[in-house]
Amino acid sequence: MNQYKILLLPGDGIGPEITEVAKKALAKISSKHNFTINFEKALIGGASIEKNGSPLTKETLDKAKASDGILLAAIGSPEYDNMPREKRPETGLLKFRSGLDLFANIRPVKISPSLIHSSPLKKEVIEGVDLIVVRELTSGIYFGKPKGKAITDYGERAFNTMSYSSKEIDRIAEIAFQIASQRKGRICSVDKSNVLDVSQLWRERVKIISENYPKIKLSNLYVDNASMQLIKDPRQFDVILTGNLFGDILSDESAMLTGSIGMLPSASINNTGPGLFEPVHGSAPDIAGKNKANPIAMILSAAMLLRIGLNESLAAQELEDAVEKVLQKGFRTPDIMTEGNSELGCIEIGDKIIDEI
Ligand code: IPM
Ligand code: MG
Repeated sequence: MNQYKILLLPGDGIGPEITEVAKKALAKISSKHNFTINFEKALIGGASIEKNGSPLTKETLDKAKASDGILLAAIGSPEYDNMPREKRPETGLLKFRSGLDLFANIRPVKISPSLIHSSPLKKEVIEGVDLIVVRELTSGIYFGKPKGKAITDYGERAFNTMSYSSKEIDRIAEIAFQIASQRKGRICSVDKSNVLDVSQLWRERVKIISENYPKIKLSNLYVDNASMQLIKDPRQFDVILTGNLFGDILSDESAMLTGSIGMLPSASINNTGPGLFEPVHGSAPDIAGKNKANPIAMILSAAMLLRIGLNESLAAQELEDAVEKVLQKGFRTPDIMTEGNSELGCIEIGDKIIDEI
């Protein structure tokens, strides 16, 4: 019987409540599919600042490196908004991603047929949307140097640098092409090469990598046009390949196609070590502790952990099917509630999903 070690990082806000639901779901699915999961927990973000004075400790990173996969809920809270950058929860997450070299962020966007009316877009536009954003996660403007602040003759100046090396572009492009090979075989690479040198290199390298994948159809869009196309005709996309900042923005935009950002999971991986699986949404401090959070993105992240991280694809599929069945039966959390359905809390909808397993 396979045994896995999973590190849970509940983080802040609604993180702890949705983590409990996902843990229960994983426990049930593992017993049904004949493997065992040993859960460990560690602190990150605001929760770590409170205890250790820093958003990420070596202890948490070491536990993560020794695990078979990491399930993170969410980090961040308005009380840290005015803290120096080093002390902000977001810095802990960025250090975690870079500390584990999790350069490939995979964000699938699929519309559940039951939720088609929760989207702000028309049914005719979004029906059948099934795309994946592949976002570079450990470089680009988030990590580029120089960065900081300087006093100049014109007052204070602040700056960040968007930079990519060919090696960094090649490895994320490879991942995108591999994913596209198992899907509809289309990649749209998104950049701003009409203005930025860094994007010009991006476009050149992606073209070179594409030569190894003759069956994949590569197209390119500037990021401004891509953001428009996503709303106008999202079905044209299969795999969207892009850098860190553009991917951050386009993945939130794509999330809204589904009606609620509370629905979308993500995986951050590399080619060797354990992966990090987390919802795309944030910590939603306004509803924290009120049993109002939507645990579905977290459960679907657990399913991605099963499939990509542990190679337990049957269990992953069953968990995803359980979510779909509960939606079909009309159970909803407040964020996706529409007329004629039944509203449930975080724990209750979690139990419904677990009952379907
Ligand atoms: C995301 C988030 C993070 C990011 C924040 C919390 C640092 O928005 O995962 O998309 O910008 O990468
Ligand atoms: Mg984001």
